[in-house]
Amino acid sequence: MAKRGIGDVALRGRRVLLRVDFNVPQDATGQIADDWRIREALPTLNHLRAAGARTVLATHLGRPHGQRDPRLSLKPIARRLSSLLGQPVPLADDLVGIHALELSARVENGQFLMLENLRFHPGEEANDPAFAGELARFGEVFVQDAFAVLHRAHASTVGVAKRLPSVAGLLVEREVRELTPLVVDPAHPYAVLIGGAKVADKLPLLASFCGRADTILIGGALAFPFLAAEGHATGTSPMDATLLPAVHELTARAAAAGTTLVLPSDLVVDRPGGAGPEVAAVEAIPPDAAAHDIGPATRARFRAALAGTRTVFWNGPLGQTEDPRFALGTREVLGALTGIPGHHVAGGGDSQRAAEELGVLGAFGFISTGGGASLEFVQGLELPGLAVLPDA
Ligand code: ADP
Ligand code: 3PG
Ligand code: MG
Repeated sequence: MAKRGIGDVALRGRRVLLRVDFNVPQDATGQIADDWRIREALPTLNHLRAAGARTVLATHLGRPHGQRDPRLSLKPIARRLSSLLGQPVPLADDLVGIHALELSARVENGQFLMLENLRFHPGEEANDPAFAGELARFGEVFVQDAFAVLHRAHASTVGVAKRLPSVAGLLVEREVRELTPLVVDPAHPYAVLIGGAKVADKLPLLASFCGRADTILIGGALAFPFLAAEGHATGTSPMDATLLPAVHELTARAAAAGTTLVLPSDLVVDRPGGAGPEVAAVEAIPPDAAAHDIGPATRARFRAALAGTRTVFWNGPLGQTEDPRFALGTREVLGALTGIPGHHVAGGGDSQRAAEELGVLGAFGFISTGGGASLEFVQGLELPGLAVLPDA
């Protein structure tokens, strides 16, 4: 399943169109809140620079849906990249068109130019052939390093790759290498630890692990419908009762497939007028209380379930970690992983940020830069932007 890579093509003096995913979180003033995704692309950028390629970078930022939006300009990103590379990365304020093409013709060996936000143009998300053709004019070779957007069939993922000789960048190569053992021949015992709040989104993910993973540990707000399906009252915790049939179905599917679901046995709850967070067994959640984290008995159960595993995939916090009073469950369970040998991978949403804030980055051998892309990959789904790249 390996793809042709940047080592397989001549680069010196050649015009390279490089797709990256610099869709980074921004703060209220538009400043980059976290440049991790930019830093993860540096190995490819350094390789292209050292090889003497003439590189034109393209990325999207946010969801402007084909409209120019000054708040989603790549100016701050081009500036940050310049400082990380120690070399100017000019930004063409055009996306496609004669002005940007002229600028790109002036890029010399080992230099860079960045195009404006791909999603300022409606042709990007529509995978419009004319727009893909315009983009293809920026390169003799296409290097795909935007792993996080490979689940989208857009002009800059699928369209351009069909028009130019294409290879995977170093980040895409690494993502595929690290994520594949979660899907193909995983080392058993294989445990999956899933939390977060978007229950409807995560049910298909859970379903895909039935029969593939040995154990699925469920925390976060995701646990509430499962507890309700077992007949427990969950107080005022967020709960979408319409999901209960799907939850029952999933529980039956896991049992039939021999995958053990581990649910919380106690929770950290809070109630209006209460003295502060308290621990409640899942059989005894007060009707006016909301649960915000897994409790101490659950932390111990989860740690015990992870001991002795050889493969672990984590997605989504086990509690409302933004509030330090409710971060202990996630911190302690992920912290325990640090001492367990094996292939530990995190992916999806803001897992990297959460792991960094909780001081448990060391628990993981690899953290995917992908949100939706990594969750689709670990489900075994085909990513269109990856499938289109030629095999080695
Ligand atoms: P991810 O982006 O990591 O895939 P989600 O977007 O599904 O995960 O959910 C992340 C959010 O889930 C966090 O903001 C966190 O506060 C919230 N969350 C976790 N546990 C709970 C809980 N018990 N009650 C409410 N929200 C929760
Ligand atoms: C992401 O942040 O998950 C990727 O950049 C894709 O963004 P999208 O969900 O807006 O397509
Ligand atoms: Mg999220």
